[in-house]
Amino acid sequence: MTVISGFSKLDRRQRIKFLAEHSKMQASDCFRIYDFDAPEEQQGVFEQMIENYIGNFPIPMGLVTNMVLNGESLTVPYVTEESSVVAAASKASKFWASRGGFTAVVTSMTKKGQVHFTWNGNQKIITELFPEIRKKLIQATDVITEKMRKRGGGIKEIQLINKTNDLPYYYHIDVSFETADAMGANFINSCIETFASVLVNLPELNTEENHIEIIMSILSNYTPDCKVNCHVECPVEDLAGWDKKLTGLAFARKFKHAVDIANLDISRAVTNNKGIFNGIDAVMLASGNDCRAVSASAHAYASRGGSYKGLTSIYLFDNVFRYELELPLAVGTVGGITRIHPMVKKAMAMMNFPDAKKLMMIAAASGLANNFSAIASLVTTGIQAGHMRMHLTNVLSQLNASQVERETVIHHFMDRAVSYAAVEKLIMEIRNNR
Ligand code: MEV
Repeated sequence: MTVISGFSKLDRRQRIKFLAEHSKMQASDCFRIYDFDAPEEQQGVFEQMIENYIGNFPIPMGLVTNMVLNGESLTVPYVTEESSVVAAASKASKFWASRGGFTAVVTSMTKKGQVHFTWNGNQKIITELFPEIRKKLIQATDVITEKMRKRGGGIKEIQLINKTNDLPYYYHIDVSFETADAMGANFINSCIETFASVLVNLPELNTEENHIEIIMSILSNYTPDCKVNCHVECPVEDLAGWDKKLTGLAFARKFKHAVDIANLDISRAVTNNKGIFNGIDAVMLASGNDCRAVSASAHAYASRGGSYKGLTSIYLFDNVFRYELELPLAVGTVGGITRIHPMVKKAMAMMNFPDAKKLMMIAAASGLANNFSAIASLVTTGIQAGHMRMHLTNVLSQLNASQVERETVIHHFMDRAVSYAAVEKLIMEIRNNR
């Protein structure tokens, strides 16, 4: 195996040439990557965004319509590769728009960073010294936190956690932060790295016999104290509108069963939560947020009781159907790429420039919309009818269908079950009869 050095020093054209020489792709095909370039001014932004850049990778953006959130009507940009996701969220949003819409509230906005270290001295001493050390840590980050404090954020709490029973000499310092409208990763990491440099230089903890060794300083992506709650609610009979064959009560009962199953069976719980993330990830991508961080946190939250469960809860009492999603969602509307990426800037404008709290609520409502739509389909028609109908256009693209073929096939499958094999068969018939 050859180890490549200096690749990042090559210019873009040289990198693509390298690709042509070291892959099975034709050079002409490699250079077609340029076909996806943006206009000059935006192209420059993309080229600076990551290391070893070769080109852009477009993913469609669509609009979820009729989302009523806390009484406000919104059009929400989704970025997703899955064909049925926008349609599913729009269908649920429209359904709920005439039934009170989505109601959301952000219950907390605190995030955490940690300094992990070992200290080989007497546990009692470090515990007793810690109130004084805390003051020094805060003082050392005064300059870093100044702007954030003016925006209402900053360091909220610093705790020493003694973990020496789990791992010899191991402690961590847990630091709680409020980061206003920023996701705050850089801010948090800067603060705790400063804490680390203070700790290793404290004469009271670093003597001839005892010393602090910093293992690492990093924010935690687990954010159970940065949480949003979103629900929909209506009288049970109002649910009758979803499916012609079921009464509101019959629909609600089946729906409740589906939610209960996600709470007791991990295989179903993961799929249920994936459906929630169909909506959340689409909003995270559109708004330039870190969907990996948000997913990691939510999936850990789903297991907080010791077993992995669905993130939604259902209440079916006194003729009322209430369906709720609660999850951690650490997002930012300033910082990162939110004010740099040209399409993210447009997405923010489409949502009327939400602050972090509002974006948390929009994302939660989107997650609930997608999940409601998925479960409502699963317990009535099944998922494939709608899913494959939306996927039909992808299948047609795969089969290089002409415009005439597309129209014929779409018309043919208006009232028939769609499958790849059936579409392929029909296309072949059309082509053979030409
Ligand atoms: C497909 O992307 C998502 C679903 O599987 C979610 C679910 O089963 O709840 C339909």
